[in-house]
Amino acid sequence: MQEVKNKEEILVDRQGEVLEKISSKGFNKKFYLESYGCAMNFSDTEIVASILNKQGFGPTKVMNEADLILINTCSIREKAEENVRQRLSIFNKVKRNKKDIVVGVLGCMAERLKHKLIEEEKLVDIVVGPDAYRDLPNLIHAAETGQKGVNVLLSREETYDDITPMRLDNNGVTAFISIMRGCDNMCSFCVVPFTRGRERSRNAFTIVAEAQDIFDKGYKEVTLLGQNVDSYKWTNPENGETVNFAKLMAMVADVNPKLRVRFSTSHPKDITDEVLFTIRDYPNICNYIHLPAQSGNSRVLKLMNRTYDIDWYKERVDSIYRIIPNCAISSDMIAGFCTETEEEHKDTVDLIEYAKYTMSYTFYYSERPGTLAARKYKDDIPYEVKKRRLAEIVDMQREISRQSNEKDLGKTFEVLIEGDSKKSDLQFRGRNSQNKMLIFDKVEGVGLGDYVDVHVDHINSATLFGKIVKIHS
Ligand code: SAH
Ligand code: SF4
Ligand code: F3S
Repeated sequence: MQEVKNKEEILVDRQGEVLEKISSKGFNKKFYLESYGCAMNFSDTEIVASILNKQGFGPTKVMNEADLILINTCSIREKAEENVRQRLSIFNKVKRNKKDIVVGVLGCMAERLKHKLIEEEKLVDIVVGPDAYRDLPNLIHAAETGQKGVNVLLSREETYDDITPMRLDNNGVTAFISIMRGCDNMCSFCVVPFTRGRERSRNAFTIVAEAQDIFDKGYKEVTLLGQNVDSYKWTNPENGETVNFAKLMAMVADVNPKLRVRFSTSHPKDITDEVLFTIRDYPNICNYIHLPAQSGNSRVLKLMNRTYDIDWYKERVDSIYRIIPNCAISSDMIAGFCTETEEEHKDTVDLIEYAKYTMSYTFYYSERPGTLAARKYKDDIPYEVKKRRLAEIVDMQREISRQSNEKDLGKTFEVLIEGDSKKSDLQFRGRNSQNKMLIFDKVEGVGLGDYVDVHVDHINSATLFGKIVKIHS
């Protein structure tokens, strides 16, 4: 099910395909790289791959062939860290048979645990935080001569904007562009401000240049990434002019009308009407907003330190539908946050119905050491209750997703073809502007990266199915 599949799984799926595509011929050494966590992490993995490439490392999918094994990690929930530890124990088995292999941990778990990771996982050689990837060549070199190394310095400036990411997405149609790093919000449950450091926005011109470059290479869709894209703000040092998120989106959309623009994640406290008008005015900016609510109850939102209440959130939802009537909205929801009552939980279930989300990523609360919530509040909702509340949220979302898809029966959507359907190579898959997945029969003369109009003739709660009725030139 689309709405219950979590982000980590999606990225692992993609990663499997990734290394197949890049040829490792012509390189002396090989790296094997896995990436977990959010899209920002995946985008960082592409920067790391580019840095390694310049050092003469080519990629391999076969762990045993590698001279260097890296894992880009996530700390967002305890489960995410457990997954990483399981992978490390597998890498360690490989290392037992191939002693000179270098094993490195990158990303958020590296930043959170620092030197402790080397103490706890004896076979890890290097630990590198998200702002220290430029130091990877030095650390790898030292590790090759037997010296373990840690660099977890966070930066207020690093945006890697001069590094052209090595595109690891498999389809050559959709790509991520990081527009900012870090996060200055202090949501009480969240580890990200500790693992990613202070928020900083990247030079707008290098973002547009990257979008132009990938369009020239045949890509048809970019997703602009940040933990809170609505607070993007970059001042041009040459004329003092400031580019906000609405302006940046317009600049990227102007690259070419055939380049679709998506973005994630929007923060309900910061999304402005100017952003909504920009989405409305540019046909190539997709009508889809990921607007995580986290909870449907104002008391819980206050404890979460989200800095908006439920009236504010609903007003933003109403404005989205008023300004962009065809817009789809999705959300993230946390079940069983500290002290959440049954009534407060029901407010979250009700919000799904109110906001008519097309999908939600849903989680039960997982206490993270060092966060505001871990220090101030007791994680007092029993595991069984969290699980049951989560199931109720998922059930409601499934029903609302189905209702939303039913309304699409008989409609025709412009779809960008992203690949074969997972179930049949006689069918394509692609998404419409609202980010809904469509499956439809192949016809001659169209392929990957083409735009087609698809008429929807049946649905389920996760997918729309139909037929091509028009091919765009
Ligand atoms: N910047 C984004 C969220 C990034 S983390 C935003 O503000 O919306 C992705 C999602 O993980 C969050 O939206 C939240 O729903 C979930 N999450 C974060 N910390 C969590 C925790 N401690 N327990 C459970 N879910 C968590
Ligand atoms: Fe975490 Fe909140 Fe920042 Fe999102 S906005 S990354 S939930 S602190
Ligand atoms: Fe995970 Fe770090 Fe992203 S904690 S969700 S990989 S920012």
